[in-house]
Amino acid sequence: MRRKLAAGNWKMNGTGAALDALDAIATAHPAPTVDILICPPATLLSRASQAILGSAVTLGGQDCHAEASGAHTGDISAAMLADAGAGAVILGHSERRADHAETDAQVCAKTRAALEAGLIAVVCIGETLAEREAGQTLDVVCGQLAGSLPDGITGNQIVVAYEPVWAIGTGKVPTLEQIAEVHDALRGQLVGRYGAETGHGIRLLYGGSVKPGNAAEIFAVSNVDGALVGGASLSAADFSPIVTAL
Ligand code: G3H
Repeated sequence: MRRKLAAGNWKMNGTGAALDALDAIATAHPAPTVDILICPPATLLSRASQAILGSAVTLGGQDCHAEASGAHTGDISAAMLADAGAGAVILGHSERRADHAETDAQVCAKTRAALEAGLIAVVCIGETLAEREAGQTLDVVCGQLAGSLPDGITGNQIVVAYEPVWAIGTGKVPTLEQIAEVHDALRGQLVGRYGAETGHGIRLLYGGSVKPGNAAEIFAVSNVDGALVGGASLSAADFSPIVTAL
């Protein structure tokens, strides 16, 4: 049985004052029946790890380097994230694929590095609007999934987030049938590649304009094990109802 996961990606938002929102989220869910993961900017991780002490909230990074250390100015290794209090890291988000030209192979190398550091890897995939309109959605997301995940994983090490690029921050959401089609295809591919135990153990999140008003219907979709939430994860007022809907 996969445990549901409500994950928040704060992206490049938040200075010290944002820890109030983190505290409010933790306080609102003292004993949740689902997992709660918040991924603040790396600059906040250490302070955030103090702020969530004793709570049910866990923390994640938003990216890591594929190498453990070295001459990579401005980059952060998976071990550094773990040292700062992270238990997970988002990898291959479409904003990094677009802004930094990250390839599936690079995401795969980062995923390996994350697992070696003991982090859960939240690996993101998703099609652009042009790809959807060209009827390429399943080819694109299944290709990204194949290229972004390494061999030899277990189900509890990996979370996959399906985020249509055109749904991120736009208020547009695929139909429930479109979400189900993709998630069912991803589940089938995972089971085919890794076997039943691992393939059914990997959680599949939906991401892209998840809000309090649409969370419950999305969570009822086949093979949706939770959400990766951007904008609505920045305040407890928006994020808590999403957690409760899971
Ligand atoms: O990582 C989160 C996603 O990019 C979704 O962002 O909820 O603001 O659309 P959004």
